[in-house]
Amino acid sequence: MKKRVFSGIQPSGNIHIGNYLGAIRHWVASQVELENIFCIVDLHAITVPQEPKILKSKIIEVAGLLFAAGIDPKLSAVFVQSHISAHAELAWILNCFMPMGWMQRMTQFKEKSQKQKEQVSVGLFDYPALMAADILLYEADFVPVGEDQKQHVELTRDVAQRFNSIYGETFKLPEPVISEIGARIMGLDDPTKKMSKSEKQLSHAIHLLDSPDAIRSKIMKATTDSLREVRFDESRPGIYNLLVIYKLFTGRSRPDIEAQFKGKGYGDFKRELAEVIIEGLRPLQSRYRELMDDPTRIELWLAEGASKARSIAEKTLTIVKDKVGLG
Ligand code: TYM
Repeated sequence: MKKRVFSGIQPSGNIHIGNYLGAIRHWVASQVELENIFCIVDLHAITVPQEPKILKSKIIEVAGLLFAAGIDPKLSAVFVQSHISAHAELAWILNCFMPMGWMQRMTQFKEKSQKQKEQVSVGLFDYPALMAADILLYEADFVPVGEDQKQHVELTRDVAQRFNSIYGETFKLPEPVISEIGARIMGLDDPTKKMSKSEKQLSHAIHLLDSPDAIRSKIMKATTDSLREVRFDESRPGIYNLLVIYKLFTGRSRPDIEAQFKGKGYGDFKRELAEVIIEGLRPLQSRYRELMDDPTRIELWLAEGASKARSIAEKTLTIVKDKVGLG
């Protein structure tokens, strides 16, 4: 039996290289030796206001990007969260086993709710219960995510353990899988803040569908420092972040990269970096354009993914309902 991977991505905003380097490329790499389920989490997206038409088109865009990045619909089930009602149902049940105090500690909620103040929805507060439902429905062994999601996966383990201790062994405890490098790509405009889909500042993030000129302009504007040395040094977050991106796109070692740029300035390095990103994204962008010529194929793959995933999810939900005494 292959071990199972589950992970998710929100169809809100524009997918950026942080999502790609921190999550998507690992999903692509694990496809052969593991069983993979990837979810486009539209129910999570509506925890903050969304324009309906844009949300619908973003779902297809994100699916197209995942397939273009190399997710193979024959090897991995990719589906839309709202197509499988078990997610919302299990989230409700788990809600009833998650103390308010656990939720109040979630740093992502604290950060996001600060921006919205009193307008913040109950859904945003409850976001981690839905995420726990996503993972636990599929008895996932591994959950490959960026560092920002680690706390949510740990909470998922906590609620699974709590449920198991009350009702007996029911849920498998998932392991978060977080890469050592690239799990937290920082904003280009402010390298002290995580690169984020919701940030409006134009030069904050490189999106997977950015044109070569947009990529060059964003990289050239990226915040660095007043020193000149191109060296991996975590105390200089701007240049460090750019070097991490360079390393991940080229696959080269730190000493090799430092040797290449020894004695050169930030301008030279940034020019090289922009070209490396442009070339790194080129195959993905051209596959994406091909796929979008016929979006019905994407919809078909999503329907196939949902039908594979649904049978697993419904089995788990039936067991859980029975244990709790529902129905
Ligand atoms: P989302 O849509 O914000 O991000 C998708 C994935 O990209 C990672 N990521 C990053 N990695 C490195 N650097 C960054 N700057 C960066 N920004 C984002 C995220 O960690 C994530 O792995 N709550 C999740 C979606 C979700 C989910 C799940 C994930 C819902 N249910 C169940 C795993 C399992 C989210 O909003 O991801």
